[in-house]
Amino acid sequence: TNKKAWSGRFNEPVSALVERYTASISFDYRLAEYDIQGSLAHAQMLANQGIITREDFTAIEQGLKQISDEIHDGQFAWSLQLEDVHLNIEKRLTQLIGDAGKRLHTGRSRNDQVATDIRLYLRASIDEIIHLTLSLQSAIVNLAKKHAETVMPGFTHLQVAQPVTFGHHLMAYFEMLKRDVERLTDCRKRVNQLPLGAAALAGTSYPINREQVAQTLSFEGVCENSLDAVSDRDFAIEFCACASLIMTHLSRISEEFILWMSPAVGFITLADRFCTGSSIMPQKKNPDVPELVRGKTGRINGHLVALLTLMKAQPLAYNKDNQEDKEPLFDTVDTLVDTLRIYADMLSGVQVNQAAMRKAALQGFATATDLADYLVKKGIPFRDAHEIVARSVQYAEQKGCDLGDLELAELQRFSPQIASDIFSVLTLEGSLNSRDHLGGTAPNQVHKAITRADKWLTNE
Ligand code: ARG
Repeated sequence: TNKKAWSGRFNEPVSALVERYTASISFDYRLAEYDIQGSLAHAQMLANQGIITREDFTAIEQGLKQISDEIHDGQFAWSLQLEDVHLNIEKRLTQLIGDAGKRLHTGRSRNDQVATDIRLYLRASIDEIIHLTLSLQSAIVNLAKKHAETVMPGFTHLQVAQPVTFGHHLMAYFEMLKRDVERLTDCRKRVNQLPLGAAALAGTSYPINREQVAQTLSFEGVCENSLDAVSDRDFAIEFCACASLIMTHLSRISEEFILWMSPAVGFITLADRFCTGSSIMPQKKNPDVPELVRGKTGRINGHLVALLTLMKAQPLAYNKDNQEDKEPLFDTVDTLVDTLRIYADMLSGVQVNQAAMRKAALQGFATATDLADYLVKKGIPFRDAHEIVARSVQYAEQKGCDLGDLELAELQRFSPQIASDIFSVLTLEGSLNSRDHLGGTAPNQVHKAITRADKWLTNE
C-alpha cells in the first residue's frame, strides 16, 4: 500500500529515516498551486497533440480542480510517504479519476516539472516584491516631500561634512530602490522561461509542443537546452542576489534610523508600534524593527551563499541536491515581503526633530567648504583656500563657535579677500541653495527629483 511511484525495481523499502531525509513535502507543498497550473497546461498540450484523449484531459482538468479546492480548504492530506508535492497531487488525481490520472506524467519528468513550478512561484513572487518596493518608494517620496527644505548635517566617516536636506538624504534611498526594481524586472525575464518538455534531461519522444505550453503559462520563451532546463538554478541565485541588495539598502537606512533615534542624536522618533521596551529599564524605547531588518539582512545574504554553494560543481543534469533550493528561496521571499511591507508603514510614522537636525548641522563647521569655494571665486587657488579655511576653523574651534559667528575682522585675519558678503555664504541655507544642479542638495533640486520620482512611479 505504501508503494512508491518509482519502487518497481527495488527489493527493500527505504527506512523511515531515509524517507524523511529525502522527502521535500514538508516545504514544497507551497508549490501546489503552480504544480497544478503546470500540469493543466501540460495535459492540455498532450490532448491537443493527440498524445492523450480529450476525455482524459477533461477528467484531469476536473480532478485537478477538485484537488485545488481540497488544498485551498485545508482538506488535502499531504503524505510524507509520497515524498513531494508532485507525487502527492498525482496520487490523489489517480484516486479521483483512475487511469487518466496515470497518463498525466506522459512526456514529463519531475525534473522539468519542479523547475517549472519554481519558476512560476518565483515569477509571482517577483511581481509582488516589485509592487511592494514601489509602495515603499512612494512612502519615501511622501516623507521627502515634507522635508525638501529641512536641513541636516550630511556625513562622511560619520563626521559632519556639509549641510544637506533631509529630503535629499531620503531620495538617495529612492534611487537605490529604483535600481533594485530594475534589477528584479531584468531578473524576471530569465525566470520566465519554460523548462517543461526537457523531461528528465534529454527531451521526450512524444510529439510535444513546448511553445504552446509556454503560451498557456505566459512564459516569454522556452529553455532551449533540455540539460540546462532541468539542472540550473541560476535564475533563483540571481533573484537572491537582487534580494540581498534590497536588504542591504534597507539595512543601511535601518542603521541610520537606529542612530538617529538614539537620544544622543535625536533626529527622529519612530512610531511606538515599531518599537519595544525593556523589562528592566522603564525609560527604554528600542528600535526593534530596524534592528531586525539589519539582522535579517545577514540571513538573506546567507541564503544567497547557500544557493551558490548548492549549485557549485554539480555535474549536468539534475541532481537531488537541487531539492535544497527551496527553503532558502522561500525564506528569502517571505522575509523580503514582510520587510518591505513593514518598512513602508514605518516610514509613514517617522517624526522628524528639525531643531535637533539644524543644531547638529551648525556644530561641525559644515559650511567650511563654502568658505573655501568663496575664496576660490575671489581668485585664490583651491589648495591655498583650503589651508586658509583650515586655520580659521582651528581658530573658531578654540573660541568655541561656528565660522559664521566670527566677526568680519577676525575672518579677515586669515584672508583680506573676505568681505561682508561672506555671512550669507556661511549660513546653512546659503550652502544648500548654492548646490543647485542635477543631483545636488539644493531644495530646488530636491523638488525636481521628487517630481521625476513621482513620474517614474506612475509609469512603473
Ligand atoms: N522533490 C524534487 C525536487 O525538489 C523533485 C524532483 C525529483 N526528481 C527526481 N528525479 N528525484 O527537486
